[in-house]
Amino acid sequence: MNITTFEEYQTAYAQSVSDPEGFWAEVAQQFVWKKPWKKVLEWNFTEPSVKWFVGGKMNITENALDRHLADKADHPAIIWEPNEPDDQPVTITYSMLHTRVCRFANVLKKYGVKKGDRVCIYLPMVPELAIAVLACARIGAVHSVVFGGFSAQSIADRINDAGCTMVITSDGAYRGAKVIPMKSTVDDALEKCSTVKNVIVMTRTRTPISMLKGRDHWWEEEVKHVDAICPAEEMDAEDTLFILYTSGSTGKPKGVVHTCGGYMVYAAYTFSNVFQYQPGEIHFCTADIGWITGHSYIVYGPLCEGATSLMFEGVPTYPDAGRFWEIVEKHKVNILYTAPTAIRSLMSFGLQYVKDHDLSSLTKLGSVGEPINEEAWQWMKHNIGKNNCPLIDTWWQTETGGIMITPIAGVTPEKPTYATLPLPGIQPLLVDEHGNEIEGNGVSGNLCIKFPWPGMIRTTYGDHERCKQTYFSTYPGLYFTGDGCLRDEDGYYRITGRVDDVINVSGHRIGTAEVENAINMHLGVVESAVVGYPHDIKGQGIYAYVITEHKPDDPEMFRKDIAVTVTRVIGPIARPDKIQFVSGLPKTRSGKIMRRILRKVAEGETSSLGDTSTLLDPTIVDEIKDGAL
Ligand code: PRX
Repeated sequence: MNITTFEEYQTAYAQSVSDPEGFWAEVAQQFVWKKPWKKVLEWNFTEPSVKWFVGGKMNITENALDRHLADKADHPAIIWEPNEPDDQPVTITYSMLHTRVCRFANVLKKYGVKKGDRVCIYLPMVPELAIAVLACARIGAVHSVVFGGFSAQSIADRINDAGCTMVITSDGAYRGAKVIPMKSTVDDALEKCSTVKNVIVMTRTRTPISMLKGRDHWWEEEVKHVDAICPAEEMDAEDTLFILYTSGSTGKPKGVVHTCGGYMVYAAYTFSNVFQYQPGEIHFCTADIGWITGHSYIVYGPLCEGATSLMFEGVPTYPDAGRFWEIVEKHKVNILYTAPTAIRSLMSFGLQYVKDHDLSSLTKLGSVGEPINEEAWQWMKHNIGKNNCPLIDTWWQTETGGIMITPIAGVTPEKPTYATLPLPGIQPLLVDEHGNEIEGNGVSGNLCIKFPWPGMIRTTYGDHERCKQTYFSTYPGLYFTGDGCLRDEDGYYRITGRVDDVINVSGHRIGTAEVENAINMHLGVVESAVVGYPHDIKGQGIYAYVITEHKPDDPEMFRKDIAVTVTRVIGPIARPDKIQFVSGLPKTRSGKIMRRILRKVAEGETSSLGDTSTLLDPTIVDEIKDGAL
């Protein structure tokens, strides 16, 4: 089933549309199933209800680990590059990983974790993070990984939403020059969580931490006293594999639910085809496992394909802006999959950090997370790929489980800034605001998908109605992505950005409503409105308009205080870049904030604000314009 030419892509695509069930059955057959499925697909996008490989039984870790033991036991599964360049990297072979996962799975069992129980994982980018994820999957526990940049409050919200009974964390984390507390943040979170019975703590920084008797246990001690054998739990293809929280336009982040069978098939199929992975290649995805990219293209996709996945603990600019290139040289990395924000940041440091490194091992480059601008695309193509490597712009989402629209490396003709064509099995369409399909080429619209694919979201945890409302109600019968999109004369897709109130800051997805709620919690704040604005490095920055009870005596200090509140409530990733104090917001007579105006002002485009006559108080617009930052 591996695609190696553009003609094969076209044939596979045509088959995937004319006979989706036959197409995916053939892909799925390559995996280890404990019991075969009875039906490939049952679906409707109204409820919505989507089931793939109905009745099939399996365990994803048998596919990611056990099945490689026969021929790849001593083959590296994970290469771990620590934060400090002079510290020793760690290579974990498939057989070592299998043993470590089984041992840790037995620790989970010892503390009463059973199939279906939810486990929160809050760890830095250390091998134990991948091990914890796989150990949950081994016994059928549902993992909910929370990115290390989230606050105690955000951890607590996620633990409570999912009713987690266990948390896995570390004492601290190394990120560049910083040592970041982890366990103490979890301790703060747990004051608000009654469901958590046990906490497993791995040692990374050996920062002094509190260890509560009866609740907290050291990872290193626990794994010594358990068996190295742990049979894989038999899972139904549609049992939940994991929950991953992501932001939307309203309310708190929602728990996107992915299931075992379909997600496995989709993550592995897309990994091997999109990157054209060749046996022995070293795949370096620079994402954090706290995001979907890390789930699918550091852990599950590569391991299900028997690949070598490189995991990096640190940041691209530590100890200097040459770190990625040093890692590529040191480990002879073949595939580099990173984000536009990282590329733009490294570009700004200049080529001196690139030129001393031998990058000749690279065979493929990939980008993900946000639209990639032409300058960053060309810089990567010329200076990193030396015009010798395909560069693929991969569009997808937490909800899609895997890559959806992308060139296949070296197979699909590239076009800078375009995600190009849908993968086999993906049927995109563009609609206007009334939901009518916009046909033909050279058109723009809202991006929807009309047919299910195995890796798609099944529900939002604990609230199916929210899943229906968010993704399947705007345009009945279609999955709505929230993205705007252009289809050019050649039928190539270019994702232009979110059309809802979600912003993308350094590839991190943030809901403006969430940031507003956090700002509104600050003493003296009456109301706020948050929008995104173009930012040279981050893609988008966060611009907040804030109404206060009294005119601030020291506006600069007040801004800093508000930023601290947002950091406490959500985490540093949501800290506003600009805060403008205003006496009112542009509201219509029905009380709706006209965000279009706020966006224009934040973008610095004050000459083209459009019609403001329907505003309750049009004079507020001048005040906002005059005070723009
Ligand atoms: O707006 C799109 C943008 O990121 C959103 C999904 O964010 P998240 O669920 O956090 O997943 C990110 C990693 C898969 C999308 O709705 N996005 C992602 N990739 C691209 C992109 N926008 C443009 N081009 C991309 N390649």
